[in-house]
Amino acid sequence: MVQVSSAGQISAPEKISVELTINNIKTELKVAPWTTLLDALREHLDLTGTKKGCDHGQCGACTVLVNDRRINSCMALAVMQDGAKVTTIEGLASNGALHPLQQAFIDHDAFQCGYCTPGQICSAAGLIAEGKAKTADEIREFMSGNICRCAAYPNIVAAIQQAMGAS
Ligand code: FES
Ligand code: FES
Repeated sequence: MVQVSSAGQISAPEKISVELTINNIKTELKVAPWTTLLDALREHLDLTGTKKGCDHGQCGACTVLVNDRRINSCMALAVMQDGAKVTTIEGLASNGALHPLQQAFIDHDAFQCGYCTPGQICSAAGLIAEGKAKTADEIREFMSGNICRCAAYPNIVAAIQQAMGAS
C-alpha cells in the first residue's frame, strides 16, 4: 500500500507476499509490487535458466509456463500470479531424464550461444500443449515470438517436429 506522510511525501509501497508453485515446489516470497515474474525467478529465487533479453516482451527469452500456458515473464508482475503454477526450464526434466524437447534440441543442434534456448524450449512446450501447430510453417508462425539471434531456426523447427512426434 502506498504510504503518504503528513508532509505529503509518498513512500515506497511495502513488499507483498506471493505464493507460487514453481517446478512443483510451493514457494512463498515477498516482492515489491512492481517486480516482474522474470525478476522474481532470477533475482529472488536464483532460477537463472530463464533469460532476460529485451525485458520488453519482444524476444521471448523469458518464456515460462504459467498454469501450463506460455507467457513472457518480463511482462507479468509476480503479484498478479499469486497462487499460480509456474514451470521454468529447470522444471522440465523429470527423474533425471531430459524432457523430449531438451533431447530434441541436442539431437538437432538447435542452438549456438544458447541464450534463447530456455525460452525456445518452454515456448515449444506450450506450443505442443496448445495443439494448434501441425506443419513446419505453423511451428514457425506460432514460435515467431521467440527470437534467435544466432538464427538456429531450421534446427529449432526440426527439434520441435521431433518432440511433437514423440509427445
Ligand atoms: Fe521478455 Fe524479451 S525478455 S520478451
Ligand atoms: Fe543464440 Fe538462439 S542460440 S540466440
